[in-house]
Amino acid sequence: MSTGKFIVIEGMEGAGKSSAIAVIESTLNKYGIEYVNTREPGGTPLAEALRNMVKSVDHQEKLTVETELLLMYASRSQLLANKILPALAAGKWVIGDRHDLSSRAYQGGGRGFDEAIMNTISDITLKGFRPDITLYLDIDPHIGLSRAKARGDLDRIELEQMEFFIRVHNKYRELAKQDESIITVDASQAMLKVHQDIEKSVIAFIVKTALV
Ligand code: TMP
Repeated sequence: MSTGKFIVIEGMEGAGKSSAIAVIESTLNKYGIEYVNTREPGGTPLAEALRNMVKSVDHQEKLTVETELLLMYASRSQLLANKILPALAAGKWVIGDRHDLSSRAYQGGGRGFDEAIMNTISDITLKGFRPDITLYLDIDPHIGLSRAKARGDLDRIELEQMEFFIRVHNKYRELAKQDESIITVDASQAMLKVHQDIEKSVIAFIVKTALV
């Protein structure tokens, strides 16, 4: 049996990740491809507990940048070992709502965390594991944040200042440009067009996978 593929969806708050995931799901369904869903941080019972810690606004103390980064990677380690790798080995595809690129953008770009140290932590956690394809939904942070605010309660990270999100956005764009496995989708277009672009990219990837 061939191993499955890992498709990741990335983007800032309000970029439309949830509806993009629904498009990926229906495309895989059309091709009869079995898949499981993951989200980061989270995706296993222990990783979900870490997610709550990361998102909570109720801490009695400030989370340090280092704690935030390590919680993201601790969660990713649990998810990789207990869910992603077993699913791929069983021939299933995995649709990931965020992965390592989020840490690069938020902790690297947003918090200014040192890249060389992040590379080491990422290597320890992932041991070279990478998504097969990443769809990055690119949205102006002003638009994305206003959509997220309209949705309701903001979590600890969503309460950051606009300058933080501008740094995150710049880092996402910089990294997407450097890596040909990352496909940038213009999420400011009409929703139908965004969904068509996503479907087209996923179909192209399925076809390419079938040919190799
Ligand atoms: P979301 O998945 O509901 O968008 O929430 C996850 C939040 O955590 C979001 O603000 C992005 C942030 N995040 C990081 O800062 N670093 C990471 O590595 C990941 C996976 C998420």
